[in-house]
Amino acid sequence: MSNLGVLTIGGEGSKVFSFFRTFLAFLAGIISIAWVQCLSNIVYLLAKKVEGFSKFCTHDYSGTMVKNIEVKSVLISEHYQVISEFMLELHKHEHTLFDKTADWKDIEHNYMRHAITMQDEHEGVCLVAYVDGVPAGFIFGYTEDQDDSRIEIYEGKELYVSDGYVAKAYRRQGVYHSLNKQLEDTYIQKGVNRITRFTHINNIRMRQLLESEGYVVTRLLYEKWV
Ligand SMILES: CC(C)(COP(=O)(O)OP(=O)(O)OC[C@H]1O[C@@H](n2cnc3c(N)ncnc32)[C@H](O)[C@@H]1OP(=O)(O)O)[C@@H](O)C(=O)NCCC(=O)NCCS
Repeated sequence: MSNLGVLTIGGEGSKVFSFFRTFLAFLAGIISIAWVQCLSNIVYLLAKKVEGFSKFCTHDYSGTMVKNIEVKSVLISEHYQVISEFMLELHKHEHTLFDKTADWKDIEHNYMRHAITMQDEHEGVCLVAYVDGVPAGFIFGYTEDQDDSRIEIYEGKELYVSDGYVAKAYRRQGVYHSLNKQLEDTYIQKGVNRITRFTHINNIRMRQLLESEGYVVTRLLYEKWV
């Protein structure tokens, strides 16, 4: 009996040992991943400081490394599905910021028609960023003319940036910056010197981004739903 008892206890002991060993292996795995991440961050930060590092990257801004981003100008009418899917995600995100945002399915048809019209009739430019060939984000803007309601000194055409979105997996890699820079440059070359856009007051991410790109807040939109 006692032998059996020892055997039983020994069996559980080895199970405990085996569990402990697996746990240690798991812990070691986590620590190694953390080390690899830590080391890659150090290498990245050092690389940012090295002059000429950007030539190894497809795009860079402020020293940020971005690989294999290709920005293409597209016609919304010909890329309806891709743009509509980005718009859907954009509107879901807008809904988290403002609960009166309409469901995309209720406005899709009209909004897409509006975007296509703006592209056709108001020099609209829609850029899609592809990362390794996969659509990662887009930006859309068009021009607005001054009319008799003008109250400010600027008399030329304005670029109004109406929509932009980057898929979660591709964020904080400079994708939006690349899109925005290319959009701005396109219109600056056409002689546009004023760019306007709206964002929700609680869209902190976008506000930080815009401020880091030289935009300033000039107005607050007050609303009252009665
Ligand atoms: C806002 C958004 C377009 C930014 O796209 P992105 O490709 O991640 O932006 P970038 O990588 O070019 O970032 C440029 C700068 O924006 C700011 N930024 C971007 N993501 C940020 C975050 N998560 N937190 C704080 N700042 C952030 C930073 O200044 C950043 O520079 P840094 O990464 O060197 O700090 C993207 O997060 C998104 O699609 N959000 C949901 C939709 C949305 O808000 N659209 C705009 C509606 S007006």
